[in-house]
Amino acid sequence: MTQARKILITSALPYANGPIHLGHLVEYIQTDIWSRFQKQRGHHCIYVCADDAHGTPIMLRAQSEGISPEQLIARVSEEHQRDFAGFHIEFDQYHSTHSDENRHYSSFIYNQLKANNHISRKTIKQAFDPEKNMFLPDRFIKGTCPKCGAEDQYGDNCEVCGATYSPTELKNPKSVVSGATPIEKDSEHLFFELGHFEPMLKDWTQGGHLQSQIANKLNEWFESGLQKWDISRDAPYFGFEIPGEDNKFFYVWLDAPIGYLASFKKYCDRNQVNFDDYWAKDSDAELYHFIGKDIVYFHALFFPAMLAGAGFRTPSAIFAHGFLTVDGAKMSKSRGTFIMASTYLKHLNPEYLRYYFATKLNSRIDDLDLNLDDFVQRVNSDLIGKVVNIASRCAGFVSKRFDGKLNQAWSSEAQALFQQFADQGDAIAELYEKREYGQAMRDIMALADKANEYIAETAPWVLAKQEGKDAELHESVSLGLNLFRVLMIYLAPVLPETAQKAREFFNENVWDWSSANTPLLGHQIQTYQALLTRLDMTQVDKMLEDSKQTLQATQQPAADSAIDPIAPEITIDDFAKIDLRIAKIVNAEAVPEANKLLKLTLDIGLGERQVFAGIKSAYEPEDLIGKLTVMVANLAPRKMRFGLSGGMVLAAGPGGKDLFILNPDDGAQPGMRVK
Ligand code: MSP
Ligand code: ZN
Repeated sequence: MTQARKILITSALPYANGPIHLGHLVEYIQTDIWSRFQKQRGHHCIYVCADDAHGTPIMLRAQSEGISPEQLIARVSEEHQRDFAGFHIEFDQYHSTHSDENRHYSSFIYNQLKANNHISRKTIKQAFDPEKNMFLPDRFIKGTCPKCGAEDQYGDNCEVCGATYSPTELKNPKSVVSGATPIEKDSEHLFFELGHFEPMLKDWTQGGHLQSQIANKLNEWFESGLQKWDISRDAPYFGFEIPGEDNKFFYVWLDAPIGYLASFKKYCDRNQVNFDDYWAKDSDAELYHFIGKDIVYFHALFFPAMLAGAGFRTPSAIFAHGFLTVDGAKMSKSRGTFIMASTYLKHLNPEYLRYYFATKLNSRIDDLDLNLDDFVQRVNSDLIGKVVNIASRCAGFVSKRFDGKLNQAWSSEAQALFQQFADQGDAIAELYEKREYGQAMRDIMALADKANEYIAETAPWVLAKQEGKDAELHESVSLGLNLFRVLMIYLAPVLPETAQKAREFFNENVWDWSSANTPLLGHQIQTYQALLTRLDMTQVDKMLEDSKQTLQATQQPAADSAIDPIAPEITIDDFAKIDLRIAKIVNAEAVPEANKLLKLTLDIGLGERQVFAGIKSAYEPEDLIGKLTVMVANLAPRKMRFGLSGGMVLAAGPGGKDLFILNPDDGAQPGMRVK
C-alpha cells in the first residue's frame, strides 16, 4: 500500500429553496462513491458539503410562506440531509453558507481582495420593482420576447425562440414578485476584477486541473475576454452584509464556494484538524470539487481567482459531470419524471439508483439518461441475477452440509480462479480513481459472469446428491462465496448497505480494499439472508404516479416559476361574503380574439351565467362541457371587450398547461353552496 493521501472533496452546495431531486443525486452519488472508495483504500479523505442558503429566491420563498429565511433554511437543511442519508450519502460535514464560519471567510477573502486592489465600483442601471421596493434579478422579470413575440418569457432569455437579451429589451415587462412594471434605477455596485487574474487563470486552466472538454470551453471564454464580476446586491437581500458598506450584501455566488472552506472549518473544529494543512498556499493536500457542467464558470474562473487573490491555494482539480435526463428527455413534472429524492425513497431501494448511475458515469461531462426500462433490467440482471445469485446458490450448502464453515484449503484450479479475481483489484481501483465508474461496473460484472460459470460447471446441486463428493461440493460453494465476497468488496463504494450486510454474513468487522486479496479459509459464516430483491416495473410506475401527485399537491414555486406572495390578510367575515356555488358547464367555446380566454355558460341551478375564464392554455372547450366546477356567484359583473362576465370559476396551478379547474365530486348539484 502506498502512503495515505490527504484528500478534501466537495459536492456543489444545493440551493436551500427546493427539494433534492434525482438530477442532483447524480452528483452526490458520484462524489460519495469516490469518497467511500478513497476511504476503503486507506486514504484520509474528507467529504464536505452545505446548503447554499442565500439569495433572492430564498428570501422571496420565505416571504411567500410567511416565515423568516432562517426558518426556511433550517427546515430545508433537515429535508436535504434526510434525503441524502436516505441515499447513503455520507458527508463528513454538512453545513450552511449562512454560518459564522462562512461570514468569517467571506469577509476575510473580500477584505484581502480589496486590500490588493482587486475590487472596483461602478454605478449600474438595474430593473427595480417600485411596489416591492427591490431590485429585480433577471429571472424575476417576465414579459414578451423582443425577437419572436412569445408572451410570458423570462428577463434573460426566451424559451420559445432561444433568444438572449437583457430585461430592458423585454416588451411589456412585469415583476414576477408584484406584477408591477419595473422601472430602471441607478445603484452603485462592487466588482471583482477578474481580468487581473488572466495570466494566472490561463496557466491554471491549462495546468491539468480540468477535463479537456472544460479546458476547451475556457479557452473560448478567454478569447471573448474576462469581464469584471458584480459581487454586490442591494437590500433587501438575504445574505451577508459587505464589511465597510452601507446596506450592500455579497451576491450569493460570492459566498457559496467560500462555503466549502466554511464547512471544512467546521469539520476542523470538531475533529482537531488543522485548516491550513488543506488550504494554505503550500498545502500538500489534494482538493477536488465535484460539480455539474452548468456551474463551471464559477468554479474554474471566479473561485480559483478569489482564492489566489486572497492568498489561499487553488483546487487540485474540478470534476464536472453532465446532466440527467429521464427516458431521454429533461425531467418533466407532468410526466412524473421530475422525481424528488423523497418520492423515490418511498418506493425503491436507493442502492439501485446508486448502481445504475455508477454504470452510466464516467470522467466526461456528457449527459446521462435514466431509462426506466433499462434501469429495471440492469438492476435485475446485474445485481440480482449475477451478483447476489452467487451467494444464494452457495450459502445454503455451507450451512446445511458443513456447519456454516468454509473449506480449509483448495485445489490449484480453485486457487487460480480466486487469484484472477484478486488480481483485478488494482485495475478496478484505477477506474474508480479516474471516475470511470461505468467501466469499473462492467469489469466487475464480467467477473460475476465468471463466478456464475464456475458454479454452473461444478454444479453444487448435482454434487450434493452424489455419494463421496463432499470435498468437491465444499470447494465449489466455498470458492463461490469467496468470489462473491471479492465482488462485494469491489462494489462496496457503490452499494454500502448491501456490502455491510454481506460483510456481516461473512462474520468480518472491516473490509478495506486489500481484504479482497486474502481468501477466507476454514472460516465460520452466518446463515444467509436474502440481500436484495428483484425490482418490478410496477414499483417504478407507482413511483411515477406518486411523483405526479406529490408535485400537484405541493406545486411549489421553484426558482424557475412565478412566486405568488400571500395576499393581505382577510377576516372570516370577508371570506363569508364570497358566495361559492357548484356550477355545471353547459357550454364552452374559445374567444377567437383573446388567446387565453374561454367563454363558459354555467348553470348554477338558479339560471345560467356567462363567464370568461383564462384557462384556454389548459383545456379544450369540448372537454369542459358537462363538467361541474366551483364559481364565485356574487362577483360584480365585469364588462369585457367580448361581453359581460358574470362571475368567476376557481382554478389552481402555475399556469400554462398546468391549470386545473376545481372539479367537485359526482354528488354535487348545480346551485349547491360550497363551504
Ligand atoms: N447552489 C449552486 C451551487 C453552489 S456551489 C458553490 C447550485 N445549486 S443546485 O441545487 O442548483 O445544484 C446543485 C448541483 O446539482 C449542481 O452541481 C448542479 O449541476 C447539479 N444538478 C442539478 N440538476 C441536475 C441534473 N438534472 N443533472 C445533473 N446534475 C444536476 O447550482
Ligand atoms: Zn422569443
